[in-house]
Amino acid sequence: MRDLVKTQQIMLNRAQIQQKIRELADELCRDYKNRLPVMLCVLNGSVLFFVDLIREMQIDLEIDFVKISSYGNSMKTSGEVKILKPPDCHLKGRDVIIVEDIIDSGLSVNFLRNWIAKFQPRSLACISLLVKDEAAVVTYDCEYVGFHIPNAFVVGYGLDYAQKYRNLPDIYVLDPEFVGET
Ligand code: IMP
Ligand code: MG
Repeated sequence: MRDLVKTQQIMLNRAQIQQKIRELADELCRDYKNRLPVMLCVLNGSVLFFVDLIREMQIDLEIDFVKISSYGNSMKTSGEVKILKPPDCHLKGRDVIIVEDIIDSGLSVNFLRNWIAKFQPRSLACISLLVKDEAAVVTYDCEYVGFHIPNAFVVGYGLDYAQKYRNLPDIYVLDPEFVGET
């Protein structure tokens, strides 16, 4: 399957992704210089983006991890979001940056922003590598966006289908026929 998925169309290759990450890191460094932001990785999908992003950021920062419930094994959202692992550090008074892999319906990011806001951070922002603008079912805020993409299901570079394909360095469009979800 891992090699077969490479017959699918590449949406963004590794060079395009890494170039965009350098631009995003520069932007964050300008905005968060001397603020010691807490970079909050949303597990599991954001992990590749997260490590590449923080490696490019030439400022002091802290990292933490939050896990929220995902889609299960389907391409469609269950619509229900839960915290499976809360962050460890104290967020009160901190500059918190949520690092997301992809925003689809917007439900996860909205839920997370509201949940974190209760800890009274000094500021709260979100960065997402990918945003599917046409898939939004709620309005949400995302201050930093890597790529605005069409409403397709994508895998690779952290993004999975049924937990697979996260370790591909490029991002592919997954045809529903390929996995038998038509
Ligand atoms: P949302 O709550 O609908 O915005 O979905 C956000 C989460 O759904 C993301 O963090 C991903 O884990 C997952 N997701 C949404 N679209 C895709 C996709 O195209 N490929 C893989 N995962 C996706
Ligand atoms: Mg995710």
